[in-house]
Amino acid sequence: MQGQTAFKLLLWTFLTFASLLCHGWEEKCTTNDHAPTVQQSQVGFGRSPTFMVEVQNNCPMCPVINLHLKCGSFPQTLVNPRLLKVLSNNDCVVNSGLPLAPLQKISFNYSHQMYLMSPKIWYFQCE
Ligand SMILES: *[C@@H]1O[C@H](CO)[C@@H](O)[C@H](O)[C@H]1NC(C)=O
Repeated sequence: MQGQTAFKLLLWTFLTFASLLCHGWEEKCTTNDHAPTVQQSQVGFGRSPTFMVEVQNNCPMCPVINLHLKCGSFPQTLVNPRLLKVLSNNDCVVNSGLPLAPLQKISFNYSHQMYLMSPKIWYFQCE
């Protein structure tokens, strides 16, 4: 009997945690909440400055897909298109539109004067 109670308690604990992990103790991420971020920092100075770009999914629960950035006239030649594909002026897609896991960050460097970049559209894949 003792063993069975302990087992039930264990099972309950497990199920509660599993349910928390799936459904979250916060609301699922919505478009306006936990928006992805793009950070740039200058890592190389001099004649040809280098910038490090870090794109992060800030949702702790869900992958983000089809993340597009406003990227001005950023040229494709500066970055591997698998990381950032230039589609048209001011429209670049991150990771070929494929999911970035919860809190995953993608980073690349480019050597040029700085291009401003910011998130444009994205979708959270909750469930
Ligand atoms: C970008 O540059 C920084 C500083 O030099 C370096 O630490 C980092 O590894 C570089 N990232 C990539 C993806 O090359």
